[in-house]
Amino acid sequence: MLTIAISKGRILKDTLPLLASVGIVPSEDLSVTRKLIIPSVDGHVNLVIIRATDVPTFVEYGAADVGIAGKDVLVEHNSDNLYEPLDLNIARCKLMTAVIKGQGMPAGKIRVATKYVSLAQQYFAQLGRQVEIIKLYGSMELAPIVGLADCIVDLVDTGNTLKANNMEPLDEIMQISSRLVVNKASMKMKHAEIKRLIDQLERVVTERR
Ligand code: ATP
Ligand code: PRP
Repeated sequence: MLTIAISKGRILKDTLPLLASVGIVPSEDLSVTRKLIIPSVDGHVNLVIIRATDVPTFVEYGAADVGIAGKDVLVEHNSDNLYEPLDLNIARCKLMTAVIKGQGMPAGKIRVATKYVSLAQQYFAQLGRQVEIIKLYGSMELAPIVGLADCIVDLVDTGNTLKANNMEPLDEIMQISSRLVVNKASMKMKHAEIKRLIDQLERVVTERR
């Protein structure tokens, strides 16, 4: 029996068709059920439904054998205990800096609002810029508008959220997509099952490209 950690929210709508294409279909409607562990229809897999940012933790500690998580979350989590065998090419977006339209990046020490504290710290350190990072858990675009920060580090896809809040993207920090991650011990103990899953998903991802 394999346990796969997946998250509600944005990744889910791309994850379900991908899993279905390799025969993994939840036995209950995830948008309705309050259950957090859901067996697949064929009973071979348990799906655990968690917050996107918790996926690496569950997989790292072996609470799930396999998980699907955004590269943003994985880099920020920074674990040595995970294999990342496959780019699933879903939930694609970019991690970017953004500022209020027309203002550019101010000189001197800047305040940066972000959910990605460590990524932002690394990015600005490498530019040699002094920053004060303000950790937020969402709605980062609000921070410059209300004077909480000079700039944000956040995900950008269509750019609509920035536009709707009179902001503009500046620099790209990283391209993001969701990855398959595997617990290192599970990779040994359940090698045949996990290898089959990786191969099947890889085939689907390649066909889709
Ligand atoms: P949590 O629930 O753990 O706080 P969250 O609310 O940020 O996380 P989602 O917004 O569902 O969770 O995002 C999950 C993942 O989806 C992100 O880690 C990222 O990889 C991807 N993602 C987020 N926003 C976008 C977007 N606008 N376009 C494409 N992919 C995105
Ligand atoms: C994500 C991200 C941006 C938005 C970007 O937020 O944090 O706000 O998507 O997408 P766009 O460029 O297509 O507008 P999400 O909607 O997941 O909400 P959050 O702010 O709660 O993380």
